[in-house]
Amino acid sequence: MSRYKVPRGTFDILPADSYKWQFVIDAFREVAREFNYKEIITPIFEKSDLFERSVGELTDIVEKEMYKFEDKKGRILALRPEGTAPVVRSFIENGLNLKPNSSKLYYLGPMFRYDRPQKGRYRQFYQFGIENIGSNDSYNDAEVIGFANMFLSKLGLKNFELQINSIGCKNCTKDYDNALKEYFAPFKNDLCSDCNKRLEKNPKRVLDCKVKTCKVIAGKAPSMLDYLDEDCTTNFNKVQQYLTAMGIPFKVNPKIVRGLDYYSQTAFEFIDTNLGAQNTLIGGGRYDTLAEQLGGKNMPGVGFAGGFERLLLSMGEEKLSLGKQQIPKAYLVTLGDEARIAGIKLLMELRKNGISSEFDPDKTSMNAQMKAANKTGAKFALILGEDELESDKVILKNLENGEQKDVNISDIIQTIKDK
Ligand code: HAM
Repeated sequence: MSRYKVPRGTFDILPADSYKWQFVIDAFREVAREFNYKEIITPIFEKSDLFERSVGELTDIVEKEMYKFEDKKGRILALRPEGTAPVVRSFIENGLNLKPNSSKLYYLGPMFRYDRPQKGRYRQFYQFGIENIGSNDSYNDAEVIGFANMFLSKLGLKNFELQINSIGCKNCTKDYDNALKEYFAPFKNDLCSDCNKRLEKNPKRVLDCKVKTCKVIAGKAPSMLDYLDEDCTTNFNKVQQYLTAMGIPFKVNPKIVRGLDYYSQTAFEFIDTNLGAQNTLIGGGRYDTLAEQLGGKNMPGVGFAGGFERLLLSMGEEKLSLGKQQIPKAYLVTLGDEARIAGIKLLMELRKNGISSEFDPDKTSMNAQMKAANKTGAKFALILGEDELESDKVILKNLENGEQKDVNISDIIQTIKDK
């Protein structure tokens, strides 16, 4: 038994699975290229204040789930629980609004939330996400949603549903907040203590509470859609019009509020209709005041993020192909010390020429090496013994059909490349 185990809510990605991760990452990068999004890589920790100000002090993510710590100089830092705030922070700090090809960004990497672990919910999880910063045109909302839709479709997923909503802007929120306060007032004693705090400061957060009784009460709360002002209504209609033009099916779900405070207007989620409780594959929306909140200029934005773990679960449920594990093309078998030296030289030449090759120095007999060669799944065994050395040849054995022939050492790379 190993003395150490991975921390609760985290897991290792082992060789039997890592190629599947690479497959979905490659597919994501491919869609990013098609939509002309460029990669941005930000640190894994930031000042904790960045998330408090943007994601919101009263959200579960900040209030309950953030890995917050003090460094040796007393700085209060946090492991990033999400990627949008860091990207907007970097956007402002580096003046990306003034640089070409810098307003459409994507990112990949681990995020951290101290939540109760369960299927599809982890304390370290890997997000893919995009941010489109600098424009408030509704086309961008549709483009971001279109990106997510194309990514899921590219992976072959079918059992997902796009749900959209508009959560309005500051202007319409005032009336809505009042309506919510009025609606929840008679239930104050039934709501949890967090929700009572939320009701005072940000009543929309009550709609997002995970406590059962709060959820039931929130189920009949007034709908934001009835409180949208003219501008927000027009934008919401345009997003729907553009999605229809793109041929992307969607459902309007007025219950989507999202668990982060920086959103305004468009909010959306891609739901896996077969997955259990943790069924949101991708979530996102518009955040028009976030840059200003973080000290930047007025730079509206829209984006999404999703978790790779849930994607892989969904792909498993739908029995979709997840790529192939890499196997070596050639396996080197040597007999005797001199042949080993010549073989090692050849091995490095093979690798230099792009031919994936394997050699196991711990196995010396012909039998053991051939067995090992077959186990790796390599297509060829290259056999070098004293006789071959003398004639500058190597035996090329095709492990799939058993055929073998002598090939000049100087021709072996080309011969394998041609196969
Ligand atoms: P979020 O809804 O908090 O949004 O997370 C987005 C996605 O990350 C979720 O739909 C889920 O797939 C995955 N996820 C979240 N928490 C966990 C967890 N504990 N374990 C496994 N997967 C998880 C955001 O993070 C926003 N930054 C999205 C965004 C980008 N909005 C605009 N731009």
